[in-house]
Amino acid sequence: MTSFTVNDRPVRYLMDPETPLLWALRDASNLTGTKYGCGTGDCGACTVDVDGQAVRSCRISIAACEGRFVTTIEALSTDRSHPVQQAWIEANLPQCGYCQPGMIMAAAVLLKKNRAPSDADIDAAITNICRCGTYPRIRAAIRRASA
Ligand code: FES
Repeated sequence: MTSFTVNDRPVRYLMDPETPLLWALRDASNLTGTKYGCGTGDCGACTVDVDGQAVRSCRISIAACEGRFVTTIEALSTDRSHPVQQAWIEANLPQCGYCQPGMIMAAAVLLKKNRAPSDADIDAAITNICRCGTYPRIRAAIRRASA
């Protein structure tokens, strides 16, 4: 059994401890806002916050999350009032939208650490892939959220 906190609630997973966090979140906790893209740590669609760090949930086991605090897109805010979500809405940012939960989580972690990131800071922190090419709007939205 593996125990940790997800979205401020204690959870216990009776799964193989090597199960990727992504699948525990999606399949056992029904937190399907966290997306599967590549499963190899490259795309960032599965990004969640683990103890204040942006983490690719497809590449971390639930055993490695023991005793830690995980936040998913579902708990960023209950009414889309988080500054990053507001900036995304105001910028009408998503196209297909699939990668955006991971983008938003990575942006929220960045802004917790750096309230006024430069474009270089944004590019260094947001390594997620968007097939629609929304990168310029993502930079603009992060700057808007940081204002
Ligand atoms: Fe985890 Fe692509 S699904 S990085």
